[in-house]
Amino acid sequence: MAETAGVQVVGVLEQRLERPNPATLIGTGKVAELVALRADTGAQLVIFDEELSPAQQRELERAIGNDNVKVLDRTALILDIFAQHAHTREGALQVELAQYEYRLPRLTRAWTHLARQAGGAAGRGGAAGVGLRGPGETQLEVDRREIGRRITHLKQELEEVRTHRANYRRRRFEEGIPVMALVGYTNAGKSTLLNALSGAEVYVADQLFATLDPTTRRIALPGGREVLVTDTVGFIQKLPTALVAAFRATLEEISEADLILHVVDITHKNVQEQVATVLQVLEELEATSQPIITALNKIDRLPALGGGNVALADLPNSVPISALTGEGLPALMSRIEEVLSEEMIELTVLLPYQRGDLLGLWHQRGVVEREEHGPEGTRVWGKAPARLASRLRPYVWPSRAQRGGG
Ligand code: GTP
Repeated sequence: MAETAGVQVVGVLEQRLERPNPATLIGTGKVAELVALRADTGAQLVIFDEELSPAQQRELERAIGNDNVKVLDRTALILDIFAQHAHTREGALQVELAQYEYRLPRLTRAWTHLARQAGGAAGRGGAAGVGLRGPGETQLEVDRREIGRRITHLKQELEEVRTHRANYRRRRFEEGIPVMALVGYTNAGKSTLLNALSGAEVYVADQLFATLDPTTRRIALPGGREVLVTDTVGFIQKLPTALVAAFRATLEEISEADLILHVVDITHKNVQEQVATVLQVLEELEATSQPIITALNKIDRLPALGGGNVALADLPNSVPISALTGEGLPALMSRIEEVLSEEMIELTVLLPYQRGDLLGLWHQRGVVEREEHGPEGTRVWGKAPARLASRLRPYVWPSRAQRGGG
């Protein structure tokens, strides 16, 4: 993650602790080791792969005793990466708000002083800018009251963006096109797959978190039906709870989807842990009722790696693919189609001719098995997704009255 943020790693320290030290998280001896290693390497940043309280952060900076050195924790690092990867208005607002909320309790005179010092060295490719980009750069000297005002303002703006999106989502829902959410551990290949499926130019980067915001594309399945595919934020282990809260709105899109497409990088050495993390986040989001299709991605790399690393056969509906070469994509599309059909409801209706719109939707979103034109309208046999089926229900044939009349 540090490398993703543009930081050059010059040293690593580890400590296994029974109980964290309240003042500095790590033990006193380890702090001394850290101070020595920091001095040896000339590092400008010390990043903890944990969360630090504002007091711990200050105490560690004091122990290091060099005004040019900043101590960051996992949350600050992730926020910095998110700040670089936010590419919609909502994403940018979410990150900015989270950054201010993170900073408010840390905004002491000493901290702003240190940050300003380190900020002066931030010119080189952004590397030293970790934790300093975004609002901090320009706002470090404003006092808490001003930050408080900014937070209020951001919340209002975010509220407006969300209302907008909720409206958009409702319209989409009314249209009845099934929605499939792409999920996966960060860097699994979600954006690449979305591009391959839709031909759309979604931003792809060989970095963590290239996708911070959901991006929705309409794709046509081989049978002619359509599905909306929503790309989501890349999952990550130990995403701090404060950040899960910040991105809740974004992640909620997943629990509202009709189908989940879980993209797995089967060539990754920690593939099992990554899969477990994703499944756990889905559970936290209560996205457990939808069917899941698992795309075992990057199979093009398997030969070079000496074959299978795939002890993942027990994952639901797994389809091996390469989003890069396109291998396996037709099979994946068919599986999506199959799973969506399984979720569909069988119907026979008599549609009056003026409801040609519903028939059109049915062709697009469901399976029309047979059509017969009669004097009162078109009699149609087929299967439709639940939401469309509820709109077709008034035309179900034979209606109770017709059955009663013989
Ligand atoms: P986040 O936005 O961080 O969540 O990442 P993502 O899951 O959207 O991954 P993305 O599509 O950005 O792909 C990450 C990297 O994996 C890029 O360098 C892709 O080119 C590469 N990649 C994706 N699919 C494949 C594949 O099938 N084979 C190979 N060899 N590389 C792939």
